[in-house]
Amino acid sequence: MNREEVIEICEKNWNPTAATMYRISHRTMEHSAHGQSVTDNEGNSFLDFACSYGVFIVGHTQSYIQQAVQKQLDSIAIKPYGSCDENTIKLMAKLATMLPGDLNRSYFCNSGAEAIELAMRAALAANPKRQKMVIISNSYHGKTLGSLNILGQTGHKEPFTPLMNNVEHVPFGDIVAMKKAIGDGVAAVFIEPVLGGPYLEIPPAGYIKQIECLCRETGSLLIADEIQTAFGRSGKMFAIEYDNVVPDMIILSKGLTGGHAAIAVTVMSAELERKLIEEQGLDPQVLTSGSGGNPFNNTAALSAIEFIEQQDLPARAEHLGTRLLTGMRRISAIYPQFILDVPGIGLMTGLKCVSPAVETAITIEMGKQNIHLGHSMNEKENHPVLRFYPPLTVTEQEIDHCLSALEVTLQRLEKRPLFIFKIMNQLIKRQYKMPKSLLYKLTGVKKVS
Ligand SMILES: Cc1ncc(COP(=O)(O)O)c(C=O)c1O
Repeated sequence: MNREEVIEICEKNWNPTAATMYRISHRTMEHSAHGQSVTDNEGNSFLDFACSYGVFIVGHTQSYIQQAVQKQLDSIAIKPYGSCDENTIKLMAKLATMLPGDLNRSYFCNSGAEAIELAMRAALAANPKRQKMVIISNSYHGKTLGSLNILGQTGHKEPFTPLMNNVEHVPFGDIVAMKKAIGDGVAAVFIEPVLGGPYLEIPPAGYIKQIECLCRETGSLLIADEIQTAFGRSGKMFAIEYDNVVPDMIILSKGLTGGHAAIAVTVMSAELERKLIEEQGLDPQVLTSGSGGNPFNNTAALSAIEFIEQQDLPARAEHLGTRLLTGMRRISAIYPQFILDVPGIGLMTGLKCVSPAVETAITIEMGKQNIHLGHSMNEKENHPVLRFYPPLTVTEQEIDHCLSALEVTLQRLEKRPLFIFKIMNQLIKRQYKMPKSLLYKLTGVKKVS
């Protein structure tokens, strides 16, 4: 099938907005990927600094993981309900040794949002007198009906309101507001230790620890969503290590298999599980997922963790992240008309752009130089952060190559009159509302049948 045929099917059978986006972005179709690069169906290779917002931490199609998964597939892929396999048991034991404190009860799911919901259910059941949740403004925790309740990015939930009303939003980094919101105690506080999405905010030192202390003082549960940050992305195995925090539950997903299988897990403390079972009479079966934690996924996770440890990817992310961030800051400082800030920790780095038009223009110019970046796809955000999230296996040469391309990109943008960006901003804000024929004409899409 050629690209347009694929897009037509997408338009008819799935999502017309996505089809329009594929057309106007002029992105070719991804065909294969190895290590740090992705190859399209026309044979062009791209350095992947998007990584599906942090998923492919061990590089694409990592042979160490693929061989382990193949061996597992040769014996059993999905276990019969109620049974258990050796690699699942090993994975549970492994997570228990890696995580701090008594975080050692693993509940497996298939997606991040599902694992978030599991944590919400556990939090509500742990203390039925407390139903209030505290969340961070602009945080992202998934889009199922349950997880929408605690989503700080309000745009995603508007069409589905009314949802739970006992949820308070607190700005990231504002400990005074957090203290006020927690008051005498709430069911749970949900936090991404590094605020991701199109924002990328690094917490001030000690901030997560202060929240932990407030939770301990008030008997509120602390739930860390480390779906984006864990397994080295932030420069530590887990981002909670920066503040030596031990939450009551931690949620892991993306990096857990490095994109080799779809999996998520909520790991709760032994003490919380004890309370649920002994004090609340909860049967833990009500929390589980039938297909969560199958041998195929769990083997991928176990071997990905082995690979991450063997290669010491967290230390690599810390070291190479400094190189990338320093370079991005040096280059961006010359162009304050385009870049407001360059946040980063480990290999979670980004450019806070002055406008969506600048974010899009940089993405396109970097694409022309065969580098994929993590575009926020959030035309409502005035200053989106364009993410640079390479696999943690990225080399120094690849980072330097990306930095050179960024230099060229910003030089090219500087040559354009600024009013072009103003027009582009209007276009981006209205792109899905204007007649498609006009949008296609403006973005140079050839005639669509
Ligand atoms: C921090 C965070 N939480 C939750 C989710 C939801 O995960 P999923 O898309 O697998 O449901 C994501 C996904 O990007 C995420 O980044």
